[in-house]
Amino acid sequence: MTTLPEVTARKAGSGRVESLLESMTLEEKVGQMTQLTVGALAADDSPRRDTLRLDPARLHRAVAERHVGSIINVLHGSLTVDGWCRLLEEIQEAADGTRLGIPILYGIDHVHGANYVVGGTILPHTLVLAATFEAGLVRRAAEVTARETAAAGLPWTFAPVLDAGRQPLWPRFYETFGESTWLTGELGEAMVRGFQGEGVAATGKHFLAYSGPAGGRDRTPALLGRRAVHEQFLPPFRRAIDAGVAALMVNSGEIDGEPVHSSRYWLDDVLRRRLGFKGVVVTDWADITFLHTRHRVAPSLKDATRMAVQAGIDLAMTPDNFDFHDRLVELVREGSIAEARVDESVRRILGLKEALGLFDRPLARTDTGGRKRHRALALDAARASMTLLKNDGVLPLAPGARVLVTGPGAHSLSALNGGWTHTWQGADPGSYEPGATTVLQEIAKRADVVRHEEGCGFEREGNIGAAAAAAQRSDVAVVVVGEDAYSEWAGDVRDLSLSGPQRRLALAVMSTGTPTILVLLQGRPRIIRDLADGTAAILMAYWPGMQGSRAIAEVLYGEVNPSGRLPFTYPKHPNALTPHDHKTTETLDTRLEPRGPGGFDPQFELGTGLSYTTFEYDELRLASPVIDPSGRQRVEVRVRNTGSRPGRHSVLLFTRQHFSRWTPHVRRLRGARQVTLEPGGAADVSFALVAEDLAAVRDDGERIVEAGAYDVMVGDLKATFRIRSTA
Ligand code: GLC
Repeated sequence: MTTLPEVTARKAGSGRVESLLESMTLEEKVGQMTQLTVGALAADDSPRRDTLRLDPARLHRAVAERHVGSIINVLHGSLTVDGWCRLLEEIQEAADGTRLGIPILYGIDHVHGANYVVGGTILPHTLVLAATFEAGLVRRAAEVTARETAAAGLPWTFAPVLDAGRQPLWPRFYETFGESTWLTGELGEAMVRGFQGEGVAATGKHFLAYSGPAGGRDRTPALLGRRAVHEQFLPPFRRAIDAGVAALMVNSGEIDGEPVHSSRYWLDDVLRRRLGFKGVVVTDWADITFLHTRHRVAPSLKDATRMAVQAGIDLAMTPDNFDFHDRLVELVREGSIAEARVDESVRRILGLKEALGLFDRPLARTDTGGRKRHRALALDAARASMTLLKNDGVLPLAPGARVLVTGPGAHSLSALNGGWTHTWQGADPGSYEPGATTVLQEIAKRADVVRHEEGCGFEREGNIGAAAAAAQRSDVAVVVVGEDAYSEWAGDVRDLSLSGPQRRLALAVMSTGTPTILVLLQGRPRIIRDLADGTAAILMAYWPGMQGSRAIAEVLYGEVNPSGRLPFTYPKHPNALTPHDHKTTETLDTRLEPRGPGGFDPQFELGTGLSYTTFEYDELRLASPVIDPSGRQRVEVRVRNTGSRPGRHSVLLFTRQHFSRWTPHVRRLRGARQVTLEPGGAADVSFALVAEDLAAVRDDGERIVEAGAYDVMVGDLKATFRIRSTA
């Protein structure tokens, strides 16, 4: 297998790039800054999956006449590896025929495996991987994706999402690593290294605070002050940039009145000058146009082009026209934009093409005979992510138990895989690989007696009576509910509650008295307040990918001991979406009588996750009672398996700052370590805390390590240390 060059933005720029730049016309330069979706070049009668036929005239006009430098996406469905390689060969041949023969940079959304390759390994989504809290596993998952991406000749993926999942209503919540800024940075860096170590360029997205819409709907405003954005959303991008991420994609939304695509503050002052990013900044879909037509900060498309280029974008995902191209040429010709500014972007883009080896090997097709191994990793990842939220002892199931399997997710492949699965919206079951199994099919392999009643749809009523009747004749009922696949704004909801038909189905089954197990297949935490108490068990399975049905059944029947933990706070009420790292004022119970559970009252806290064994902590030790602001603190804790089964366990470390110039969080996740212990086994787990990581964020976004007392917490254990003042 040819090893691809490791990709990093740091290597961009060379003699070849400079000599090309000197010989390029303005139109050729601006062409390199133009990115089209392949749908704009496809023949009208092109097949919509497996293979894709280009319209030769459209291809020639784009590549030869308009000098387009980048193409992305699929037309509709996945292509076969051969389909990809033929398409890319045809595109590169067109590029070879141009005056300078600059290769085309092709980008694809491989966000949970090679999800646009027929037969590609479909991994659990990012949120699901986050439930493992394991950077090594995430890196290996990214390596699997990269190898299959490169095998199809594709050099660039639009992943990982580095947006911290601060708003569970957001339809792209499943694309995040959950609500923790630290975990997003830890796992996001691992994913970048996984992709780029295998020679595929990664894209940190979507810079910045796209995942914080105040109203929860996609591409709507994040009403956050700059300090909060610096504190909650910026750190994962800093880590990815320090790890050499090759590209960043810009947030389609706005931050407090300013669209990020036209923000010199975020794209130049912060991204380039403070974070030192040297890679390529690509816009999101048509977002320069939207500065005029949606955000209405640009009176014309020409103003929009000028604002975005002046702010700092390099590559415009137009994605199906030459407006950007024409206007940028005009802006340079009239002197509104200096050609040197265009050179800056072209240098970065050519540098990325060179770092990818595209000039020397336009089609990096490497053989990955490892699909079998890749499927095994996908299964391991799904197993390690399964999060058991409740179990009154009904689990694990005995094979002899007569089981009813009901609910719209019971026999659904799209509800296992979610969005971005062989099609953008993922809800095209015809595109799934032969042999893929559903939850029902996997349970039927294990249960002596299994009954199936759909009971209802995800949003539509069904035959609840038949499901209840079947439950009465069963020893246990598995109710598989949640959400069917969606991507982006198609997943916008007005209410985070689980849909009415599904709640009514679950309540009807529970009312029969048959022990009921809720299996949740969903991209975000739909509210189940009126179901939780009546269930015997709840398994959060998220959107676990093609191997997820097997992992679910293995956990239900005890073949796998669950070890996943929630990477987010699971809300109990639709208007109480408070994360773990909230403020003291959010814990106060302001009601006079009756005094309630306090302001922070989630269904399940971040980190919730049961096992079929038990783990206990003791001997929480700190290396130093006092450290310098530039120092480190070493934390050790002993973990024991006090139950009767071997088990994997993620040990989570939290910190709390007693007082701060800016209101401190009640706690923030700061570390995770995995142990696997036999019954009676124990291990010492250590964490290295760097004082700088505990820094507060000033109004200007700079970080400052404040003197004072800090708590370290693992489970119910707590220890306190001080950071000394250097004044
Ligand atoms: C979409 C998404 C972005 C994706 C891009 C290309 O609108 O916002 O995440 O990478 O367009 O498909």
